[in-house]
Amino acid sequence: MISVSSLTKKFGETVAVHNLSFDVNAGEVFGLIGPDGAGKTTTLRVISTAMNPTAGHVSVGGVDTTRDPEAVKKVIGYMPQRFALYPDLTVVENLNFFADIFGAPRAERAALIARLLGFSRLTEFQTRLARNLSGGMQKKLALAATLMHTPRVLLLDEPTTGVDPVSRREFWDLLTEVHLQSRAISPIEERALQTDPKARARERSPS
Ligand SMILES: Nc1ncnc2c1ncn2[C@@H]1O[C@H](COP(=O)(O)OP(=O)(O)OP(=O)(O)O)[C@@H](O)[C@H]1O
Ligand SMILES: [Mg+2]
Repeated sequence: MISVSSLTKKFGETVAVHNLSFDVNAGEVFGLIGPDGAGKTTTLRVISTAMNPTAGHVSVGGVDTTRDPEAVKKVIGYMPQRFALYPDLTVVENLNFFADIFGAPRAERAALIARLLGFSRLTEFQTRLARNLSGGMQKKLALAATLMHTPRVLLLDEPTTGVDPVSRREFWDLLTEVHLQSRAISPIEERALQTDPKARARERSPS
């Protein structure tokens, strides 16, 4: 589903990512672990098509991120390390805003947002300004916004850093739900993407 092949990303003289290769299969939960400055965020930014590699290739569902970023964006949900919620908008206004951005169909929007609010346990806080939410609630709202276009690939950059242990547990429970549901909803599409011969032919190389 995600194939990172000999990825190098430089910022001037700084080598943020050096010759990194890994593959993530559909249905897999994959963690990228490393100290501050190891290049985790940079790797996610390249996968999300926000920036191009200096060298190497990245593909999602067999589609090269440099060649067709728009196609890749459609299947990716990216929750950045500092997710930009709008502090002066309420919970439900934030979700409406992201529904606009992702072009969620008008007719289905109310039901979709109600489902996301329920899923993220934020229904009773929907009229609260985002700036008055606890850290854990903000993360859940960010996750709900990221799930707006039902992405098949979810990229989460330190989703529970700075969140108390109880909220962290709740967040991971939500993710488990997403994981189980996504497998139940679109196994056929995932298999179709997975069996792309180019994506499968690419070999892992040691980083
Ligand atoms: N836009 C940028 N311009 C210049 N240097 C950058 C840029 N983005 C990242 N870097 C540098 O690239 C290296 C990797 O940074 P990155 O943010 O990818 O690390 P990280 O593993 O996500 O770290 P953290 O755990 O602190 O979030 C660091 O040395 C960082 O200073
Ligand atoms: Mg980071």
